[in-house]
Amino acid sequence: MSRKLYIKTFGCQMNERDSEVIAQLLAQEGFATTSVQEEADLILVNTCSIREKAEQKAFSLIGSLREEKKKNPSLVVGVIGCVAQQEGEHLRSRMPHVDLIVGTQQIYRLPAMLDRLLSGMTQKEIATNMESSFSIPPFQKLLVNNEKTAITPGFKQFVTIMQGCDNFCSYCVVPTTRGREISRSVRDILEEVELLVEQGVREITLLGQNVNSYGATNTVDPRPVSFPQLLRKVSAVQGLQRLRFTTSHPKDLSEELMQCFAELENLCPHFHLPVQSGSDKILQRMNRKYTVESYLQKVARLRQYRPDIALATDVIVGFPGETDVDFAATMRLLQEVRFHGSFSFKYSDRPHTRSTSFTDKIPEEIKSKRLATFQKEQNKISLQRNREYLEKTVEIMIESILDGEIKGRTATNHMVHAAGNVDSLLPGDLALVIIEHAGNHSLKGRLSE
Ligand code: SAH
Ligand code: SF4
Ligand code: F3S
Repeated sequence: MSRKLYIKTFGCQMNERDSEVIAQLLAQEGFATTSVQEEADLILVNTCSIREKAEQKAFSLIGSLREEKKKNPSLVVGVIGCVAQQEGEHLRSRMPHVDLIVGTQQIYRLPAMLDRLLSGMTQKEIATNMESSFSIPPFQKLLVNNEKTAITPGFKQFVTIMQGCDNFCSYCVVPTTRGREISRSVRDILEEVELLVEQGVREITLLGQNVNSYGATNTVDPRPVSFPQLLRKVSAVQGLQRLRFTTSHPKDLSEELMQCFAELENLCPHFHLPVQSGSDKILQRMNRKYTVESYLQKVARLRQYRPDIALATDVIVGFPGETDVDFAATMRLLQEVRFHGSFSFKYSDRPHTRSTSFTDKIPEEIKSKRLATFQKEQNKISLQRNREYLEKTVEIMIESILDGEIKGRTATNHMVHAAGNVDSLLPGDLALVIIEHAGNHSLKGRLSE
């Protein structure tokens, strides 16, 4: 009987992709992934440290596993991801029931660490070192479905093109938890995409903390290319139906990249461009290196190249020193751009970040009030935006079919629920839907005949 692995993943797509990689690595060691925590022999908690709340969620799950270990002493508990990277040794003393602590750059060592633990050679394993030249190994071989790895890719997959971040926004832990920015080689990326498409993958999302600076910083490639050049190469892979990327930093968004939206047919008209604040003073204190005006100019250019492009953003409210006037500027920006959607957060102090030492912190009640104001307006705008799709026919890529109802996403990344004749359809297929209802967060319609 094979051993069972349960992974709980918090945080961003980087962590999601790492969890996939770990499942692949451990499948080769005879671990089958389970979605039932109680039946696991190995529990891994893949943690996020971006805000205090995210970290608390991870700690509360890890804490609760102390009881599980008492009931089942052979259970192995591991902590991986950004909290593991940041807390390392401290985590070992705070949570003595944890057997395995693995930082963000050491996940490839997991099989060997686990071997030592399971054979009784060691009582605890911890690896959190950061290597300045670390680069992602090519995974294509792991993805091939063979007897040992019962894992086949779905119809959509992430492909990591770079790791780490060099931007040091004053509020952000990522440069510490993920290390320096390093771009993967073009050859590795293309090989991975080609192999995935051969195996039936139809949609690829290129992944990095700031994909716009791909190839511009540290790269392992002897002949580096820019991000728009990489995008063109990936877009040309035969059989790839949809191409996306995330995330972009506005300061590195070039004209050449915007042009791609006009020229590459399979590049989806959806762009996540985090703005963070609508006040130049706050942007400067955040170390974002762009102004509101330059952001708005880029939005206007993007819309010239691709009028149907759906824009999404991230916003932090209550950054230290944010006055009512600064917050009003963020609201104005929201009303001017009218984002299709956004993720908004209350500012949170993080370890080893510059803004933690800023003295003009904003009280919690004001942060909450501003967040509610922002989200209420965003919901209103999202609903208005979604209503623009009423009675239009959109193409969706089907994600699931349940009880005669289809769920899928448009190229603009809108979630659509549709009813109709689903008989010949499968997940991953494209289908045309006529939109009949629009809500804040999704659209509903019927399959076009
Ligand atoms: N690399 C991406 C995303 C990083 S994290 C980028 O640069 O856009 C995702 C989002 O979390 C950020 O865009 C920011 O809005 C938010 N965030 C990061 N640190 C935060 C903090 N200390 N407090 C509140 N929100 C934060
Ligand atoms: Fe964090 Fe800024 Fe890097 Fe994004 S660009 S990961 S917000 S430091
Ligand atoms: Fe969280 Fe680490 Fe991603 S801190 S947002 S999981 S890079």
